[in-house]
Amino acid sequence: DGDVYKYYADGEWKKASSGKSVAIINPTTRKTQYKVQACSQEEVNKVMDLAKSAQKLWAKTPLWKRAELLHKAAAILKEHKAPIAECLVKEIAKPAKDAVTEVVRSGDLISYCAEEGVRILGEGKFLVSDSFPGNERTKYCLTSKIPLGVILAIPPFNYPVNLAVSKIAPALIAGNSIVLKPPTQGAVSGLHMIHCFHLAGFPKGLINCVTGKGSEIGDFLTMHPGVNCISFTGGDTGIGISKKAGMIPLQMELGGKDACIVLEDADLDLVAINIIKGGFSYSGQRCTAVKVVLVMESVADALVEKVKANVAKLTVGAPEDDSDITPVVSESSANYIEGLVLDAKEKGATFCQEYKREGNLIWPLLLDHVRPDMRIAWEEPFGPVLPVIRINSVEEGIHHCNASNFGLQGCVFTKDVNKAILISDAMETGTVQINSAPARGPDHFPFQGIKDSGIGSQGITNSINMMTKVKTTVINLP
Ligand code: G3H
Repeated sequence: DGDVYKYYADGEWKKASSGKSVAIINPTTRKTQYKVQACSQEEVNKVMDLAKSAQKLWAKTPLWKRAELLHKAAAILKEHKAPIAECLVKEIAKPAKDAVTEVVRSGDLISYCAEEGVRILGEGKFLVSDSFPGNERTKYCLTSKIPLGVILAIPPFNYPVNLAVSKIAPALIAGNSIVLKPPTQGAVSGLHMIHCFHLAGFPKGLINCVTGKGSEIGDFLTMHPGVNCISFTGGDTGIGISKKAGMIPLQMELGGKDACIVLEDADLDLVAINIIKGGFSYSGQRCTAVKVVLVMESVADALVEKVKANVAKLTVGAPEDDSDITPVVSESSANYIEGLVLDAKEKGATFCQEYKREGNLIWPLLLDHVRPDMRIAWEEPFGPVLPVIRINSVEEGIHHCNASNFGLQGCVFTKDVNKAILISDAMETGTVQINSAPARGPDHFPFQGIKDSGIGSQGITNSINMMTKVKTTVINLP
């Protein structure tokens, strides 16, 4: 069946033996855009075996050669940015320009990872025994970093290319092999990205990509004994995975409810611009999106007016037209967002715009005077709807931020840098941005969440380190 994209294993494109496929619905047209293979558990088993044996040889491939192949893949990926971006537009309704940016950023990430890898993996440690009480200088300890084995990479729909390579590139430079399970929305973009690695000439079996239904192969993959590490980005599913996975390193980036705390002395024009960028880019479908504004009452009216004026300038429509606000990824997501909006309406939030929805397209909406009894004060809409809570003290803002079960990022706007640092220290989140919206990048910065927002730290250097383990050899002198 020529209509169904093949999955990738053993350096080849294959059809699933089930003969079944999974449909990918275009969020804009709500019609089937592509189909991918529905791989079975049997196919997963085969892929795990391939990945295991390919990894053994890859670990012996000189580091500079691994880096060279990654640089090649990065260049090929960038050359193919147009067709891959087109898939992102059709599969996840990412605005056209942002889709291109995602691919280019991914190429840069791969290259940086290759460079960082040769530096940090090219170095080891040397220890001598006589620094510890009771020892003579008779033991020399050599440490180096060795790969973990097979890395299972599970990226989310919102960055099917970038959050795939942010797992694939560190894994490969460190000498691991990869089994990628792309999100269904974004699977074809992921397969095109994998094709670039194929063209770069990596060894067979080293990189594999299985597509299919989560219900069929999801748990089977995450609980598979052949997996030596899981790097997952997504929602609540990650909590389930971490409970079921074996004794292996886990890297999890889950949701966020990033707070934006605005003090009385803040530059309100700067805040408004950042709220628009932070709250509404890719229609709010980013784990690092600003998801609640906590503004001091005395400047709240002025800020809301400014944000309202900027919301009015956002274009709403198709991703092909590069609209700012595009349809959210699925009907169920749109329904969920609508549920939060209706709950806020019932409980008396002030609607700064009229609520409007057509299919999966939801017009940007700012909700003022939100109170803690409203669901939107705590839940993640993952859509273009932003609540504003008015606060009477900084402590109140910090309290709201810390009462969340999420702890990804947050931001604070003030001209008083001392205050900003104290607030940052008090906020229980992985990162606090001072005078800018939350964001993961630049991609070599550490990126981590606490509480339900995740386990471990990402960013290029941290991911490379996480995907290795320390090996020591001790020379004992007579
Ligand atoms: O959706 C989660 C991403 O890690 C956020 O990345 O800050 O680059 O949009 P971003």
